[in-house]
Amino acid sequence: MRERRPSQTASSIALIRALAAQGLTDVPGFEDPVVHRLLSPGWSAALALTARRIRRMDAAKRARVLARLSAVPLRVRAIDVELERAVERGCRQVASLGAGLDTRAFRMKALSATHFFEIDHPATQAFKRGKAAALSPVVERLTYVAVDFERDALSARLRASGHRPDEPTAWVWEGVVMYLSDEALGATLRALAEASAPGSVLLVNYMEPGGRRGLAFMRHLVTRLWSEPLVGLRRREVMRAEVERAGFRASSDTGAADWARQLGAPFDPENPAANLRLLVAERPGAG
Ligand SMILES: C[S@@+](CC[C@H](N)C(=O)[O-])C[C@H]1O[C@@H](n2cnc3c(N)ncnc32)[C@H](O)[C@@H]1O
Repeated sequence: MRERRPSQTASSIALIRALAAQGLTDVPGFEDPVVHRLLSPGWSAALALTARRIRRMDAAKRARVLARLSAVPLRVRAIDVELERAVERGCRQVASLGAGLDTRAFRMKALSATHFFEIDHPATQAFKRGKAAALSPVVERLTYVAVDFERDALSARLRASGHRPDEPTAWVWEGVVMYLSDEALGATLRALAEASAPGSVLLVNYMEPGGRRGLAFMRHLVTRLWSEPLVGLRRREVMRAEVERAGFRASSDTGAADWARQLGAPFDPENPAANLRLLVAERPGAG
């Protein structure tokens, strides 16, 4: 990431969520009533233009485009389901790592009794805070923590922010580890394990290498142009080993085809989301 520029990938993901929130998605039950309010003027203009173009397409073309965009609403819904489960099972702290323009603290009523931590790169977080000041959180308490996973000591920042390592936390790491080096991934996982009371849950969304060649090329090109290169594509065995080495125990690892089945959404194996996955892991108790 560039030192002083807010993440552009975060805005691009928010744009796709804003399209889905207008009904421009094939994923049933997707809702995000506030995300459009977090976009910059440039991204808002891109949203209006893209929505208009999609609505003017014939049905077959529109279905193809919406299928291509479904990776984002699918992963959001899959994570929301797991997050609600973690909160029902006793996590009263929730942390969104690399939160970007995440809206969970402003839309998920199931989180109303939680202390929600938004953790992100300082440049992205400064932009988000400016925009989110006009929104009302639905959580009990919202705390922002500025951290660069490549440079800063997460443990110290968490302690200073009022996070309680003796209370279970649900950690949400969505759309981030694919941008992180192995060193940052390992250091962050160790810091999370250290701050995780037994019963804590880690939800980590990651991307495997591969996929359709043209698409993979475009993804790499665009993210490089934004100075957010995809340096952290990892296979499922690697992710599981990293998470378990840090002290978590993996309980499930699902892919976009599984989420689509669970949510009743169409899914074609050629879908660009095919190499996205969600690993769920728990912090076991001692003994
Ligand atoms: C693709 S966005 C995902 C945002 C959000 N989690 C979502 O799914 O909508 C990537 C996020 O990772 C954050 N990020 C990337 N590198 C980071 C780093 N070194 N330290 C902290 N955050 C980082 C960016 O600021 C951005 O918010």
